[in-house]
Amino acid sequence: MKQDVQIFGAAHSSIQHDSAEKHVTGTAEYTDDLVGPARMVHAYLGLSEIAHGRITELDLSAVRAAPGVVDVLTAKELPGVNDVSPNGKNDDPIFADPEVQFLGQPIFAVIAETRDLARRACKLARVTYEELPFVLDLIAARDAGMGYVTEPMTLRRGELEPAMAAAPRRIKNRMTVGGQDHFYLEGQIAMAIPGEGPEVSIFVSTQHPSEVQHMVSHVLDVPASAVVVNVRRMGGGFGGKETQMNLFACVAAVAAKRLNRAVKLRPDRDDDMTATGKRHDFVIDYEIGFDDSGKIHAVSGDWYARCGFSADLSGPVTDRALFHADNAYYYPAVELRSHPMKTNTVSNTAFRGFGGPQGVIAAERMIEEIAYTLGRDPLEIRKLNLYENGQLTPYHQPVEDQILPRIFEDLEASSDYQARRQAVIDWNAKGGTIRKGIALTPVKFGISFTATWFNQAGALIHIYSDGSVHLNHGGTEMGQGLNTKVAQVVAEALGVNFHRIQITKTTTEKVPNTSATAASSGTDLNGMAAQDACRQLLERLTAFAAEMKGVSVEEVRIGETVQIGPHQMPFDEFIKAAYVARIHLSAAGFYKTPKIHWDRATGRGHPFYYFAYGAACAEVSVDTLTGEYVIERADVLHDVGRSLNPIIDKGQVEGAFVQGTGWLTSEELWWDGKGRLRTHAPSTYKIPLASDRPKVFNVRLADWSVNREKTIKRSKAVGEPPFMLGISVFEALNMAVASFNDYRENPCLDAPATPERVLMAIERLRS
Ligand code: MTE
Ligand code: MOS
Repeated sequence: MKQDVQIFGAAHSSIQHDSAEKHVTGTAEYTDDLVGPARMVHAYLGLSEIAHGRITELDLSAVRAAPGVVDVLTAKELPGVNDVSPNGKNDDPIFADPEVQFLGQPIFAVIAETRDLARRACKLARVTYEELPFVLDLIAARDAGMGYVTEPMTLRRGELEPAMAAAPRRIKNRMTVGGQDHFYLEGQIAMAIPGEGPEVSIFVSTQHPSEVQHMVSHVLDVPASAVVVNVRRMGGGFGGKETQMNLFACVAAVAAKRLNRAVKLRPDRDDDMTATGKRHDFVIDYEIGFDDSGKIHAVSGDWYARCGFSADLSGPVTDRALFHADNAYYYPAVELRSHPMKTNTVSNTAFRGFGGPQGVIAAERMIEEIAYTLGRDPLEIRKLNLYENGQLTPYHQPVEDQILPRIFEDLEASSDYQARRQAVIDWNAKGGTIRKGIALTPVKFGISFTATWFNQAGALIHIYSDGSVHLNHGGTEMGQGLNTKVAQVVAEALGVNFHRIQITKTTTEKVPNTSATAASSGTDLNGMAAQDACRQLLERLTAFAAEMKGVSVEEVRIGETVQIGPHQMPFDEFIKAAYVARIHLSAAGFYKTPKIHWDRATGRGHPFYYFAYGAACAEVSVDTLTGEYVIERADVLHDVGRSLNPIIDKGQVEGAFVQGTGWLTSEELWWDGKGRLRTHAPSTYKIPLASDRPKVFNVRLADWSVNREKTIKRSKAVGEPPFMLGISVFEALNMAVASFNDYRENPCLDAPATPERVLMAIERLRS
């Protein structure tokens, strides 16, 4: 898209991502690309080499004496608290002192003239530990009485015991679901620039600038007002930069203030993967009561999560697993319990879907259990149990915007599901080496932060006297297109050319007290805040125009050409006149999500403003001699309400589907018996490649959908919900395996269904 092409009516149009050309030409600036100040030095972290113990001696003399080293930091050098816990639990030290709680935990930092010298010096540390027993596995943690890192939650509705007892059929089983590394292309990074007095500026790859600001203020023991946090963009966050960059920013800030020099901290990929939290792996024990028609009567389940050594976001993540343990299905009687288990592993954190996927996958497993038991197509069981409007979720919020029947109908036809399923069954009946599977699975995803107060946002818009428009808001850009969408909202509201809107970096100086860009709500919240700022500007400009020409405000239309009764004026000229007339050309907008409330203690409320829906149909081929597989075709139909930007939303749906597929197929985290993460680089941790994408990939938006709530332009959040559509691939693999004994038994694949695991499942059914 050329800048000289004028774009009007920006909302709902497929405007290319504002940084697309910069991304592909290498001119988009990430934190590591910024021109650093003179005399900048580099920090590197020294990590624990045991999983649990007490440091009895920390001998850093050789580190200090190493070439180029200018400073060494341990817990003792921190002026304020040694804690970056995002929830006030005080359980997230920056540097282990004296207790080490996982292998890879930072113990000290070295500051040197170059990054390479800092890294080399780290290796010279001599740490003596008194080793303590450790527990890595989450069921072992339960059995060892390790306890919870945070308060567990229970959701219940209806009378579980009698409903379960009365159900004609019951199944009790366990599912194991693996974790996932974020594998953002740009790793964690922070650069701190000291200012005068208490001041410091931080440039950091973060989804949550306001939290970095507060963490740095606590660790430096200065007011938040002295700390400025900036981020122009991230090279991916996916939840991995919601809290995990706090530590990096704080270390850089402390060093910068001590040395009065700029300090940059960037771990290499292996250390980034070892030392930062990931998606929680879960063990889910479930019991379902159902009848011969396939209708669910009762569901009971325990969601055990490996949280690692501290709480971090494990509370809200394990809560959300329960919020989505129904996925799209009505459970007449239900009890769901979370178990956020403490382990001696890295502290797990947010990851696209925020625990939701680990709830949804169990719901889909339960559907498959019923289908295989009754010898039915799982899709029939899915349809049979879909929510009807008015029915209550396990958290007592009614579903009121159910559109899955229409999505199913549309996708079943466009993917030719019935004929292809029959063809798959016929193919498998021939008993060849290659087996096939097909599955069509839905998602229903609740939109809003479950912590109600996070559902607020601010924006700041300046119109300069030359008519150019400077847009700032509290959200952060991580590739998802938030900045482009908010700029579209502003261009539309002001009636001006999209290119008039200057997108700028997120900074705590302009919009304070922001929430993390997370829970898929970035556009919903910041788009509304920006629209509120536009409303204020339009009010002032309209009143000014009417007065200037002596017409009524109804006769004024602001736009690229300003219409004032019979008069017309170019926008630039009009703004110049407004400036000269001393009209205030800057506005701060604000928004808070209406309707939502949540009482965790009683497990009741209306935590979600609305639901986003979608479905996918995937077909796979499995080589039964090796367990390797390919995705032959995937058809996706996803609901984004009235899309603000169809091409960006489609990109989100495609990316989420592929990332969700990676979680359930090739991405496997593996710790050895000592607690060392052995999958800490792309050589051992396999994210999907371009060649792993479905051979045929049809992605559509449900273009007939309109959000019934008054969201920004009636759109719906898109970032996380389609992640769970990768489950269709997982269930298709399950079917291919099931063909080995004529679908009489549910193979109950655990996730990730790596080729090894698929092969083992096949071998089990063969024998
Ligand atoms: N898309 C890209 N390209 N990069 C990312 O890091 N993060 C996802 C999703 N899509 C992510 C992404 C996650 S975890 C969330 S919560 C949302 O984007 C956050 O942005 P939004 O609220 O603006 O949708
Ligand atoms: Mo997304 S996991 O809410 O950052």
